[in-house]
Amino acid sequence: MGRHRHRERHDHYYRMAKHEGYRTRASFKLKQLNSRFGILKRGDIVVDLGAAPGGWVQVAREEVGDEGFVLGVDMQQVAKFPYKNVRVIVADITDVSAPELIRQNLPREPTVILSDASPKISGVWNVDHFRSIELARAALRIADQILQRGGKLLVKIFQGDMFDEFVKELREKFESVKISKPLASRKNSAETYIICKGFKGL
Ligand SMILES: C[S@@+](CC[C@H](N)C(=O)[O-])C[C@H]1O[C@@H](n2cnc3c(N)ncnc32)[C@H](O)[C@@H]1O
Repeated sequence: MGRHRHRERHDHYYRMAKHEGYRTRASFKLKQLNSRFGILKRGDIVVDLGAAPGGWVQVAREEVGDEGFVLGVDMQQVAKFPYKNVRVIVADITDVSAPELIRQNLPREPTVILSDASPKISGVWNVDHFRSIELARAALRIADQILQRGGKLLVKIFQGDMFDEFVKELREKFESVKISKPLASRKNSAETYIICKGFKGL
C-alpha cells in the first residue's frame, strides 16, 4: 500500500511537471516550500546551487519576475533558458573559488540562496548524509560570503547524525530557521529542507 501510494504520487508530480512545462518534478518541492514559507518575491536576486536540470530555476524565475535575476550553478551543464535575467554556470560549489565566481555572475548582492544540491546516492545512509552535509556547508559558506544581510537560505540535507549540529550553526547565523519536508518529496527519502531567514551577516 505504502509503495503503491508512493508510486502514485511520483507519477502524479511527474505528469504535472510534464504538463506544466517544468524540466523536473523537483519544481513542485520548491513551489510547495515557497507557498508555505514565503521564500521568493518579485525583484529577488536568486542563486540556485545544484540547479541541473533547471526545475527550480524555472520556478524562481516565475516568482522574481522581470525585475529579479536567477543564477543557476551546477557541476553539470544546465540547458540555457530564453530569458535575459536567467543565467546558468558550471561550477563545483565546494570549490574555494565558487563564491567569487558566483558574485561575478550576478547583477547585485543575492537576496536568496537556494540549494537542492545532492551527492550521487551510494545507498549507504551515513555516507550519503555526510556528503549532503558537505554540500550544505558549501551552501552556507557561499551565503556567508555573498548573501545580503537579511537574506534567505533554503538548503537540502539528508537526515543523519550531523543534522542537529548543522541546524545549530544555521541558528547562529539566521534570525529564523525552520525545517520541512514538502509533500512532493518522496516519503522514503531522507531529504529534508531547512528554511533560514534574516541573515545576520556576522
Ligand atoms: C536533485 S538535483 C537538483 C534538481 C534541481 N533543483 C531542479 O529542480 O532541477 C542535484 C544537483 O546537485 C548537483 N551537485 C552535486 N554536487 C555538486 C557540487 N559539488 N557542485 C555543484 N553542483 C553539485 C548535481 O550535479 C545535481 O544536478
